[in-house]
Amino acid sequence: MTTDKLFSPYKLKSHTFKNRIGVAPMTRMSSSEDGIPRRDVLDFLVRRARNGAAIVYTEAIVTDYESAQGYPGQSRILTQRQIDAWKPVVQGIKAAGAVAVMQLFHCGRMAWPEINPARRVIAPSPISPRQANPMTGKPYPLPDEMSLFDIRHVIRGFAESAAGAVEAGFDGIEIHGAHGYLICNFLSAYSNQRHDAYGGTVEKRCRFAREVIQAVKARLPADRLLTFRISNWGVADPDVSLFVDQDEYRQAVRILSREPIDALSVSTYSYSDRAFGTQRNMAQLTREATDLPIMICGKIYDRRSAEDALQDADIVLSAKAILLNPDWVADVREGKALALPASEEANVAYTQTPLP
Ligand SMILES: Cc1cc2nc3c(=O)[nH]c(=O)nc-3n(C[C@H](O)[C@H](O)[C@H](O)COP(=O)(O)O)c2cc1C
Repeated sequence: MTTDKLFSPYKLKSHTFKNRIGVAPMTRMSSSEDGIPRRDVLDFLVRRARNGAAIVYTEAIVTDYESAQGYPGQSRILTQRQIDAWKPVVQGIKAAGAVAVMQLFHCGRMAWPEINPARRVIAPSPISPRQANPMTGKPYPLPDEMSLFDIRHVIRGFAESAAGAVEAGFDGIEIHGAHGYLICNFLSAYSNQRHDAYGGTVEKRCRFAREVIQAVKARLPADRLLTFRISNWGVADPDVSLFVDQDEYRQAVRILSREPIDALSVSTYSYSDRAFGTQRNMAQLTREATDLPIMICGKIYDRRSAEDALQDADIVLSAKAILLNPDWVADVREGKALALPASEEANVAYTQTPLP
């Protein structure tokens, strides 16, 4: 059964989304030494807005020059040239009637020291992922346990990058708290074994995320959006449940929801998967713990899956389907038969090939 909800507007603060469909954040590894994505990668985002997406997230932007970068060719927004490069992108997205949000990220223990100018890997605790880095074939290096100086320094990187995004005109910021990167490293006892104010109880493990949120919020004009991305899985050691059970997850959501964020973006492998051995999916468990708007992502690829996912969320985000098909929103609207993209198909994102 089709409903109108997917193509109905949605209001979030002073922003009106023209429908409930967004482009999920997607790292493209296309920037050279200047920290600016390739022209065609920037154009790709504007095209997705023109072709009907209501909200467009940027790739994960690296928040400092010391330890934040996790992949080659990631971009920053800390210099005037970097800020200026994004201005026409933001204008293009807005001119298409969509909302432009920049995702900010520190890779934490997923670092690749060769590509960080200071050659550092930092994390809440000196514990590396079990698996090797698939891109280098080498083990991930043992991270330095972050000192209080490191913590303050990294938070300043998020705040400065947020200021850069505001200067570029973005409608909002997303703080990447998912997928096994730094903020997620703090949230999960799998990677956080600290005994100070930043580790131990769920409340303490959420402290770093809360401080990042507050520091970013302080740099945002009142009309800008602030979203927080969360997941129960990480890119490395993907089978590990990062929250031990549904209670711990819900507690973290409750704690984060007390902060000045406007929506939670829940990232899953597959939106409909039952979570933590319950009969409920991640969006449903999140809804039990928060009144915040929920964005949901994971194997949403056609009208049926989008409408189904939207039963438990306010916005659906697509990564692979919209990456590979510039007309995805129109095809969904028409209810076209669409195939679920295979993971390997998305590798084109990291090549020099301009995407349509
Ligand atoms: C090429 C590619 C790059 C990605 N980069 C990011 C990223 O920078 N930040 C992020 O939060 N998620 C990133 N993801 C994860 C997606 O946003 C999304 O959560 C995941 O692909 C599941 O959605 P899908 O089934 O619609 O592809 C990336 C995914 C792909 C395919």
